[in-house]
Amino acid sequence: MYETSTKDLFLWIRDNKNSGKDIDELYLLLDLVGGISKNDLLQLKINSKYKVSLNVDFNSLKKKWTEHLRFSKPIQYISGSSYWRNFKFELNTNVLIPRVETEKIVEIASNIISSEDEKIIFADLGTGSGSIAISLVEENKNWKGLATDIDMNALHIAQINHKKISSESNINFYCGNWWEPLRDYAGRINLAISNPPYIPRNVYERLPSAVIDFEPKKALYGGEDGLSHIKQIISNAPKFLVRGGWLILENHFDQSKKIKNLLKEYGFDSLKTINDTFGIGRFTIGRYK
Ligand SMILES: C[S@@+](CC[C@H](N)C(=O)[O-])C[C@H]1O[C@@H](n2cnc3c(N)ncnc32)[C@H](O)[C@@H]1O
Repeated sequence: MYETSTKDLFLWIRDNKNSGKDIDELYLLLDLVGGISKNDLLQLKINSKYKVSLNVDFNSLKKKWTEHLRFSKPIQYISGSSYWRNFKFELNTNVLIPRVETEKIVEIASNIISSEDEKIIFADLGTGSGSIAISLVEENKNWKGLATDIDMNALHIAQINHKKISSESNINFYCGNWWEPLRDYAGRINLAISNPPYIPRNVYERLPSAVIDFEPKKALYGGEDGLSHIKQIISNAPKFLVRGGWLILENHFDQSKKIKNLLKEYGFDSLKTINDTFGIGRFTIGRYK
């Protein structure tokens, strides 16, 4: 632990505030790198005699802040961690920073399955940091997860997070293209969830540098119309889902109608668009007949 005076710390925060810096990002840095939450900070008294303990020395904290400001590097990649729902996940630039708008997918999945259904096998296709799969098994103790990703480095992070958060061996991890590594589970999966890369080319090209320069393109880019991965996932779903099994997809704000048409074409009914917490039609769901 490293000590610094609360006065120095508060003056530094104040200077950043006064010069128009994004203060929420600064609090995130203090939390994820410094190890002190905004709530803890608010309890402190400003006095040069009072000390506050940080995980890193004050100068290296300042250097990390400068790195963020100068290169637009996300705080989550600087710290190697991110909060998502109830957990703190480890991260690096091989995985997408799990987004707040994705959080609702866990609730949708948990609510869609009747509580009488005993043994549920679910797939998290494109697991990245493992955030969705790990949250689902933590909330639904009798579910078994199959988490896939095309990127071995991403899977490695997901496995680290699983070990750290869960004491059970309730997720198997597979490297490969969408459903392809799940051949042994053909016709046995009750629920599949995916937040696939769905950003169309023209949108991807205009993303801010914090995203383009640091987050993996393979986690975001969905081809010309953004739907190339979604088409693969939907067209192969009938081989893997049980009859009555559900598919839940995250999508771009304007893709849900097209996705519903695709789902219909491949034998799904009970089609629905579900809004995220910002009121955007972020999720499309369907049930395999
Ligand atoms: C949008 S990220 C989602 C990550 C995580 N599930 C989340 O919600 O934060 C998409 C993930 O799909 C993976 N991916 C991309 N193409 C894939 C493919 N063909 N097969 C399997 N996974 C793929 C990426 O590596 C990335 O981890």
